[in-house]
Amino acid sequence: MSVTWSNVVRCLDAIRTGEESMASSRQCIDTMRRHDRPKRRIAGPFGARIALPIVFGAIAFVGVCRAGDMNTAATGGIQAKLSYCKDCHGPSAQGYDGYFPIPRLAGQQTEYLENQLRAFIEHRRTNNIMFNVAHALSPGMIAALAADFRGLDPKPIGGAPTRYVDLGKKIFQDGMPDANIAACAACHGPAATGSGPIPRLAGQLYPYLIKELVNWGKERGQNPTKPDTSAIMSPVAHSLNRSQIEAVAAYVSYLK
Ligand code: HEC
Ligand code: HEC
Repeated sequence: MSVTWSNVVRCLDAIRTGEESMASSRQCIDTMRRHDRPKRRIAGPFGARIALPIVFGAIAFVGVCRAGDMNTAATGGIQAKLSYCKDCHGPSAQGYDGYFPIPRLAGQQTEYLENQLRAFIEHRRTNNIMFNVAHALSPGMIAALAADFRGLDPKPIGGAPTRYVDLGKKIFQDGMPDANIAACAACHGPAATGSGPIPRLAGQLYPYLIKELVNWGKERGQNPTKPDTSAIMSPVAHSLNRSQIEAVAAYVSYLK
């Protein structure tokens, strides 16, 4: 697939509408990877259909990159990669609520980010899209990207139902000892900002949080030869029922 704006839009649409085979195809990943390298001109962005806020964001970001001086190879490399990540994760890495919820990376712990990128590469964590993205990244690039995302602080996207936020707060701060549910705050911190390999949950996308908690045992810790930190979270994920998951996910999704 050649790198034209319409192909980029086609790939973003596949991500939005859930055509997984298309979204995670080699061609789409390569298209997205190449389309915004500094110096490369994208054919006629404004002639194409620009329906997605994410596409506006991407254009704005690419615009900023071009305006700023990106001549050194080192900056060019990381800036081009960052811009590529942000095509999916949002212009400030605030996440994107499409058919596949794409998580917020902004403000995330660097150790957690690096560990998850390696988890995709090592098949500890299964996701075709992120496997195709991550396995092309060098260790140095992974560290540089993680450091950049850590420094971003956009507002949470919000949008979760507010009805059970109070219950969610209670579960998060105190747990539910009767139901054998640990207090999330004990590990994720009272403000849900995480620490080291324990992720920040504050401002994370509501549908993404639900997807992770419901599918924990099917997506995380999938490589038996490489046990990892997902095992620490596993009993907690399994102890939560659906309505508790929705409540606690809603609560943390609004935290700044
Ligand atoms: C084609 C779209 C796409 C692109 C491009 C993309 N991502 Fe992702 N990313 C996703 C999706 C979808 C998920 C959710 C995976 C899942 O559900 O397990 C994700 C998940 C992640 C996670 C896990 C976050 C968490 O909270 O556990 C990290 C880290 C990540 N991406 C980093 C990156 C980086 C760094 C780049 C750029 C080099 C990038 N992504 C580019 C779609 C994308
Ligand atoms: C004993 C410590 C501990 C407790 C208690 C705990 N967690 Fe976790 N949590 C972790 C660790 C460690 C990870 C990272 C797992 C990995 O590396 O895959 C994690 C990851 C997560 C993730 C994945 C985030 C992402 O970006 O993909 C979610 C969601 C989550 N926890 C929610 C919760 C909720 C909700 C509670 C309370 C009901 C809770 N956790 C309690 C340790 C804990």
